[in-house]
Amino acid sequence: MSKDKVDIFDTTLRDGEQVPGCKLDTAQKLVIAERLNHLGVDIIEAGFPISSPGDFKSVNEIAKLVKDVTVCGLTRAVKKDISVAAEALKPAKHPRIHTGIGTSDSHILHKFNSDKDKIIERATAAVSYAKTFVEDVEFFAEDAGRTDNEFLARVCEAVIKAGATVLNIPDTTGYCLPEEYGAKIKYLKENVTGIHKATLSCHCHNDLGLATANSIAGVSNGARQIECTINGIGERAGNTSLEEVVMILRQHPTLGLDTNINSKLLFDTSKMVSQKMGMIVQPNKAIVGANAFAHSSGIHQDGVIKNRETYEIIDPAEVGVNESSIVLTARSGRAALAYRAKLVGYELTKLQLDEVYQEFLKFADQKKEVLDADIHAIVEGSDITIEIVS
Ligand code: KIV
Ligand code: ZN
Repeated sequence: MSKDKVDIFDTTLRDGEQVPGCKLDTAQKLVIAERLNHLGVDIIEAGFPISSPGDFKSVNEIAKLVKDVTVCGLTRAVKKDISVAAEALKPAKHPRIHTGIGTSDSHILHKFNSDKDKIIERATAAVSYAKTFVEDVEFFAEDAGRTDNEFLARVCEAVIKAGATVLNIPDTTGYCLPEEYGAKIKYLKENVTGIHKATLSCHCHNDLGLATANSIAGVSNGARQIECTINGIGERAGNTSLEEVVMILRQHPTLGLDTNINSKLLFDTSKMVSQKMGMIVQPNKAIVGANAFAHSSGIHQDGVIKNRETYEIIDPAEVGVNESSIVLTARSGRAALAYRAKLVGYELTKLQLDEVYQEFLKFADQKKEVLDADIHAIVEGSDITIEIVS
């Protein structure tokens, strides 16, 4: 079955970099941008050019460096923001301006002290102005997750008429349920005149841990771009995690969707971003966490040693992890001990294993994890003669 392509819009360097304490300098951003290019993302959101001279420079340098992918700069629906972004993006082979405005009642009332008609006027004026600089203009309807669908459809229709090529439907506050977010995308697909002229994009935040699920619901209902970050970093609880959505689409071919991402670079890219930003990846993080392919309970270890697929749905090599790991703890069984002992050079008979295992358990009860050096100490300390394997 041929698959529909979902564009990956990486915003690690913009929404991701908004994390307190994770600020990057231009040189670091260039290294990450180059890696994102190799990884196969379609769009790099390089920054918010008007926000600071440093961000302007980063967007400008990335626009000079990266030629295979679209380079995007964020703006508010403000003329000066847009002209500054256009200037920063001038060297880009494929420039995109990402402009927009809040559309929920809360934003219209409290942030802008405005009304719906005036918001539509500002939205269309921003898109029309951006079109005087670049062909590719993405419009974001901030807080679309809490915007009523009828008004959202009106906004979308108006900005498509003004020339928007991509419509970003952000769940800015991470509020939506997957069914709700999916239904929103479906509603826009079915009710916005001219929707075929634009790509619908999912931009989901993770305040309720639903960013990935919401993005998948979005593309299942017709969106064809996902905005995401490496390791899911971003404002508050973060953005949709790039590695998660990419691997979900790959693991579920029946969705009929795929991306251009070279998944074998995912683990290394995750480590690179984590190191450069000084932000650790939680060990149990899906796909790229240190424990994502580690097995520590006896029942699971026995299964994985017999056949990896008993407890793993992804071959670790597919995401650039060398192999599954069998971690020795007090919950491990004989199969795991025999397996790890063999890896460090000891071929144990059944009787020998029984004896060494009792020593192992005493040791493991005192330690969180039994390491290779400990296996040597346990085996050598026992009074059995053991064949050394080469
Ligand atoms: O979350 C959001 O609404 C955003 C927009 C600026 C696109 O990041
Ligand atoms: Zn965001």
